[in-house]
This record gives sequence, C-alpha cells and structure tokens, in this order.
Amino acid sequence: MKTGIYYFSGAGNTECIAKIMAEIFKIKGYSVFRKRITNTSLQTIQQEYDILVTGFPVYFRRAPLMVQDFINRQAGHNRKFFTFCTKGLYSGNAAREIQILAKERSFKCSGHLEFLMPGSDALALMAKKNSLTEKIFKSIHSRNIRKQIEDFVKSIDNNAAAAAVNEIKAKWYTPFDNGIIKPLERYFTNNHQIFVNRFEASQSSCNLCRHCVHNCPNANIAISDNRVLFGSNCSVCLRCLHQCPQEAIEIRNKTENNVKYHPAMTKDLSVNFS
Ligand SMILES: Cc1cc2nc3c(=O)[nH]c(=O)nc-3n(C[C@H](O)[C@H](O)[C@H](O)COP(=O)(O)O)c2cc1C
Ligand code: SF4
Ligand code: SF4
Repeated sequence: MKTGIYYFSGAGNTECIAKIMAEIFKIKGYSVFRKRITNTSLQTIQQEYDILVTGFPVYFRRAPLMVQDFINRQAGHNRKFFTFCTKGLYSGNAAREIQILAKERSFKCSGHLEFLMPGSDALALMAKKNSLTEKIFKSIHSRNIRKQIEDFVKSIDNNAAAAAVNEIKAKWYTPFDNGIIKPLERYFTNNHQIFVNRFEASQSSCNLCRHCVHNCPNANIAISDNRVLFGSNCSVCLRCLHQCPQEAIEIRNKTENNVKYHPAMTKDLSVNFS
C-alpha cells in the first residue's frame, strides 16, 4: 500500500513527527513518500497514494490556510485519510475542520492523532535564551510519541478493510473560545498581522546563505542588494526565524534575545522520539 504523508511545518515540530511516522510506516511494509506542503510543492502534488496522511501545526486554533488549500486540491475517490497535528496548548476545532474538508473531497476519514509540542510561538515571543521559561516551555510535550505513532499505524493495519468513519467531535467549549477568548486575543494581538511587517535579518549576523529564501513555505523572502527582504505574504509560521543557521532573523522589538528553537535540538524530545 502506498502512503502519502503531506505536512506543513514551521519551526519543525510537525516535520519531526512526519519523519517518525514515515519511518514507522516503512517498517510496517508500506511504501511511503513524504512531502512538505509549500506554495511550490502545492503545484506538483502527487495523488497516487492509497492512504493520505496530512499533518499540520495548529496556528490560532486552525490548520494553516495552505493545508486547507492542499486538501481542496485532492480528489479522495473514497481513499483513506488520516490527520495529525502538533499544538502548543489548544487546537480548537482545527482537526474537525480538516476532516470536514476531506469528506467533502470524498475521502474516507479514519483517524487523527494530536501531539502537544513546545510552542514555537511562545518560545520565540516569550522565552529569553537560557531562562527558566525556556526550560518550562520546552518540557511541555506529549510523552511516548513514537509508541503512539506505532499504535496508530498498527490500528490502520488492523482496520485495513473497515469503512467506519471516526467523526472528530466539536469541543463543547468552542462557543466560549469563539465568543470570549478569540475576540480578547484579537484585541491584544490582532492575531499575527502585527508581526508580518516586522521580520528583519541582522546585517551583521546574516551571511546571505539563502537558506531562509528556499525554506519559506510562502516564498516570501528574497535577497536583493545583499539584504534579506521579507514580503507581506507571511503566515507567521516562524520557520525563517527558528531555522536561520546564524540566528539572524527577528521580529523587531519582539524576539531579540529570545529562544530560537528546533525540536531535534531539544534533548528531552529527541529521547522521546527514539
Ligand atoms: C503563529 C502561531 C500560532 C499558534 N497558535 C496556536 C494555537 O492556537 N494553539 C496551540 O495549541 N498552539 C499554537 N501554536 C503553537 C504551535 O501549534 C506548535 O508549537 C506546533 O507544534 C508548531 O509546529 P511546527 O513547528 O511544525 O510549526 C502556534 C504557533 C504559531 C507560530
Ligand atoms: S538564513 Fe539567515 S543567514 Fe541565511 S540568508 Fe537568511 S537570514 Fe541570512
Ligand atoms: S517569512 Fe513568514 S511564512 Fe516565510 S518562513 Fe518566515 S514566518 Fe514563515
């Protein structure tokens, strides 16, 4: 059976899970291909899979728009569809929204996994390097991640012929979230819009390696006159900021001296993955 694992990832949490998942599927004898969803890869999506697995990080209680766009380009033809997401704290109805979309595209939705991972937003915006806050934020993550994935893949094996659709239920506290928390959040942060025009690369640290240019899922970064330039097509995934090898990228007056994070560098997490 051919499994396609498509995922979106900013800092790398979802990417880490996608890699482990691909490895486990392969061990179980599946043929697997794994691809990151970017605005470039969206143009060349391969649809020859028997099982589609879609992974995404939760941003503002939703899946990134690009993931929704990805599903909308698929034709399910009654094939199996699984999702997984990574979250810092609370995923709202993100998984349900994606499942509804997949059903509309004629997929047979069969399962969802959710992992608590260090918040890439909280680390960048709130945690000074080497602080207690950094330690605390990095320690917040699901345990036995590998085991959970193994059990999940096993359940697909056992369930190979089953047609049952496991509906992801709406959470009972969503009206409270929508009615009170979200407006409050918007009032204080205007969601991510306030950050979009504040990305910059320090000219003294940046060595113009172009990593950020190739790495941005939205192709929102360019280099001109030896300067890194950020456009406004930014989903604030923070990939550029966390993955710049020189740690040269900041959100002006927000992230200076704060943590630049990658899950593979988080000792506690890599143990958890093994
Ligand atoms: C812009 C932004 C918004 C986020 N919003 C949420 C959220 O609403 N709920 C939540 O639980 N985590 C939220 N997070 C945390 C991420 O979901 C979490 O760190 C995730 O594992 C990141 O995955 P990635 O490294 O693959 O991008 C947010 C992170 C970012 C960067
Ligand atoms: S990844 Fe960092 S060092 Fe490389 S070009 Fe971008 S900002 Fe400069
Ligand atoms: S410019 Fe925006 S969309 Fe691109 S990597 Fe940076 S945060 Fe993500």
